[in-house]
Amino acid sequence: MNTPLDTFFVLGSVLVALAHGESGQIHWCYNNASCNENVWVSKPLGFCNGTRQSPLNINTTSVKGNSSLIAFNFTGFSNNSTMTTIENSGHTVKVTFGDGLVKISGGGLPGTYDVQQFHLHWGNGSDVPGSEHTVDGKHYPMEIHIVTMKSEFKGNMTLAVTDSNGLAVLGFLIEKKNDSSLPQSWKILTSYLPNITNSGQKVNITQQFSLDDLLVGVDRTKYYRYLGSLTTPTCDEVVIWTVFKDPVKVSKNLIDLFSTSLYTSDPVLMTNIYRSTQKPNGRSITTQASASSPLMTEARLFLLPLVVLHVLLWETMMSM
Ligand SMILES: *[C@@H]1O[C@H](CO)[C@@H](O)[C@H](O)[C@H]1NC(C)=O
Ligand SMILES: *[C@@H]1O[C@H](CO)[C@@H](O)[C@H](O)[C@H]1NC(C)=O
Ligand SMILES: *[C@@H]1O[C@H](CO)[C@@H](O)[C@H](O)[C@H]1NC(C)=O
Ligand SMILES: *[C@@H]1O[C@H](CO)[C@@H](O)[C@H](O)[C@H]1NC(C)=O
Ligand SMILES: *[C@@H]1O[C@H](CO)[C@@H](O)[C@H](O)[C@H]1NC(C)=O
Ligand SMILES: *[C@@H]1O[C@H](CO)[C@@H](O)[C@H](O)[C@H]1NC(C)=O
Ligand SMILES: *[C@@H]1O[C@H](CO)[C@@H](O)[C@H](O)[C@H]1NC(C)=O
Ligand SMILES: *[C@@H]1O[C@H](CO)[C@@H](O)[C@H](O)[C@H]1NC(C)=O
Ligand SMILES: *[C@@H]1O[C@H](CO)[C@@H](O)[C@H](O)[C@H]1NC(C)=O
Ligand SMILES: *[C@@H]1O[C@H](CO)[C@@H](O)[C@H](O)[C@H]1NC(C)=O
Ligand SMILES: *[C@@H]1O[C@H](CO)[C@@H](O)[C@H](O)[C@H]1NC(C)=O
Ligand SMILES: *[C@@H]1O[C@H](CO)[C@@H](O)[C@H](O)[C@H]1NC(C)=O
Ligand SMILES: [Zn+2]
Repeated sequence: MNTPLDTFFVLGSVLVALAHGESGQIHWCYNNASCNENVWVSKPLGFCNGTRQSPLNINTTSVKGNSSLIAFNFTGFSNNSTMTTIENSGHTVKVTFGDGLVKISGGGLPGTYDVQQFHLHWGNGSDVPGSEHTVDGKHYPMEIHIVTMKSEFKGNMTLAVTDSNGLAVLGFLIEKKNDSSLPQSWKILTSYLPNITNSGQKVNITQQFSLDDLLVGVDRTKYYRYLGSLTTPTCDEVVIWTVFKDPVKVSKNLIDLFSTSLYTSDPVLMTNIYRSTQKPNGRSITTQASASSPLMTEARLFLLPLVVLHVLLWETMMSM
């Protein structure tokens, strides 16, 4: 029976469910003024109004060197059978991994981290960019985030968010390429999109590809590093960020599939799913430092003549 009072209570529980999300998650969105990023900060949702937030703009002229930022060890990145499911979360497309199969260490990280999932951020097709990090103000069409967790937490997010170094996220910028349906790994990845058009849909990964295949063309020894947060509520300030300098190049037609295939729970097409860049609040962004880095070589080439000139001037003055 449907009395007005029943309707009132049903509506009431729907509103409560909306506020807390199903399974206790907070309701948030990208493109509706009632739940967008301004609301994440003003409410605030979790830590979204903190001082160590992500993403950031990377100002390449103010990046500092740090000799601790050595190469990473990538374990399981070449394995073709580590990805288990792909799902439409309502906010992004997410691929999950089997427990403890894929790992990273080195790279200046305090220990070993296990790959949990990767997901993507995008704008509206390859011409309306949607990366989260920007480089000297430039947005890329997409950005991929490989989320890793300190191995000791064994995939338990509740525990990981209690450690300020609990997560390490690897960010890769995606650049558009003018050819068709390449690389093959991205063709396979996007072939699943028709199976997960609606929010909450999830299928098993059957046709395999590896993380190495997905990240083809990137020199993974060159990266930026800073301390930040999750870029979605509750924006926990527990992330060691790595953003690689080289972009992954993906064909325009494949990039376009993301913003034309997937729907949010509203349901509207999933477009412009990225957070704006946040205030550095005194944080610096670092990169590899070594005596042979191009910057140092340039500085020496530039300084040496100055020293010579200085000595010459000094000698000239002394002889006058
Ligand atoms: C924004 O969300 C509110 C509350 O859920 C809803 O009533 C409204 O229709 C939405 N607006 C748009 C433009 O989707
Ligand atoms: C966010 O935090 C800052 C510093 O604590 C505060 O000044 C500001 O008013 C807060 N913003 C909002 C929208 O609550
Ligand atoms: C980038 O850093 C340089 C050097 O610190 C500074 O002069 C410049 O204003 C910065 N640019 C932006 C857009 O923040
Ligand atoms: C690849 O991953 C599978 C688990 O999906 C594992 O059984 C296999 O041993 C791995 N292969 C290698 C070469 O590590
Ligand atoms: C990287 O892996 C190699 C081989 O497994 C190991 O010897 C080395 O200690 C590792 N380095 C780091 C920094 O974890
Ligand atoms: C350099 O990197 C190491 C390893 O990540 C870190 O512990 C240290 O604080 C960094 N130093 C600076 C000055 O950022
Ligand atoms: C995305 O692009 C399509 C095609 O250009 C356009 O029709 C649509 O309105 C755009 N969506 C948004 C949210 O800007
Ligand atoms: C994660 O760890 C917390 C705290 O130890 C525990 O209560 C919770 O059951 C764990 N969650 C899972 C899924 O194991
Ligand atoms: C990319 O392709 C378009 C359409 O095929 C063409 O007009 C354009 O010149 C190409 N751009 C480059 C850089 O090759
Ligand atoms: C995806 O959908 C197609 C067409 O409906 C179906 O043939 C295929 O088995 C589905 N793939 C997965 C992994 O569910
Ligand atoms: C997906 O994989 C799981 C675990 O391997 C299996 O139990 C399940 O039946 C699979 N689902 C489908 C639809 O194939
Ligand atoms: C992984 O799969 C690709 C095709 O997706 C294939 O070319 C390659 O040989 C496979 N590698 C291994 C080690 O099985
Ligand atoms: Zn992300």
